[in-house]
Order: sequence, then structure tokens, then C-alpha cells
Amino acid sequence: MGRVLVLQGPNLNLLGTREPEIYGIETLEKIHAELARHAAELGLEIDFFQSNHEGALIDRLHARDFDVAIVNAGAYTHTSIALRDALKGIARPFFEVHLSDPAAREPFRRVNYLADIALGSFVGQGKRGYHLALEAAARWLAERDRTTGGAS
Ligand code: DQA
Repeated sequence: MGRVLVLQGPNLNLLGTREPEIYGIETLEKIHAELARHAAELGLEIDFFQSNHEGALIDRLHARDFDVAIVNAGAYTHTSIALRDALKGIARPFFEVHLSDPAAREPFRRVNYLADIALGSFVGQGKRGYHLALEAAARWLAERDRTTGGAS
């Protein structure tokens, strides 16, 4: 059994009403409920954390109480060396998710401090990206357990 942390950055708590033409009409609560069901089917433990504060996101990562993370850092993706350093520093793999495709939007969203250190990125697919990331996390955990003989 692996433990997955879903880390959600600033303004994602507004999903459902925030620029629905870009981010869709589903709330973060609904997306998380569906992910919780999917995680149960995959036999994974899952925890969710959303914050509008950079330091709170970093503190949550420092707890290191998970095996793999799914990270939508919101706008911090494009600004936060501190979040990048935290993700590297805790030595836990993560998958990056964005509901929209930042590279196809304003030029400032092409700066990305996380993509090159992520195991993979799922962008522009709405909430489906989280489910694809969860399946990728399950595969990564299964491979880890196969190579370590299920020891960890
Ligand atoms: C986002 C894309 C970011 O550029 C933006 O700042 C967000 C949401 C997405 O999920 O598409 O807050 O991460």
C-alpha cells in the first residue's frame, strides 16, 4: 500500500467559480471525492492539502508522510524556487498536474520551476490529469515494491 499526497496550490480552492471557461465548473471538493474513490480502487492511501500560502505548502511537504505526491502548484509553478527546493529536498517523487495547459497561455506561464524535476506532467486535460497522475503514481509504487521485494 502506498501513500499519495495531493498538493494543491493557490486559488485552486475557488474551482467551480474561478474562470470556469479555463478551469471547468467542478469544485475542488468534488474532484477530491472522485480521486479518493479512485485511490481506494487502486489500493492507495490518499491525503489532500490545499493552501494559498507558499510556506504552508512547503511545511506540508516537509512532513514527508507520503511516498509520492501529485502537485498542482498553481501560479507558484511559475514563481517558486522555494517550492522546487522543497520538492527536491524531501526526496519524494512527484507528478505535476495542471487543469489548463500553461504553455499555451500567457508567456509568463511558460516559466516552470517544477516540470524538469517531476516524474511526469499532465496538463490541459482538466480533472482527468489528476486521475492519470494517480494511475502513474500507482504504477511507480508497484514498480518500487517489485524492485525492493515489497519491503517499503
Ligand atoms: C494552473 C495553471 C497555472 O498557470 C495557474 O496559475 C493556476 C492553475 C492549472 O491548473 O491550470 O492557478 O496550475
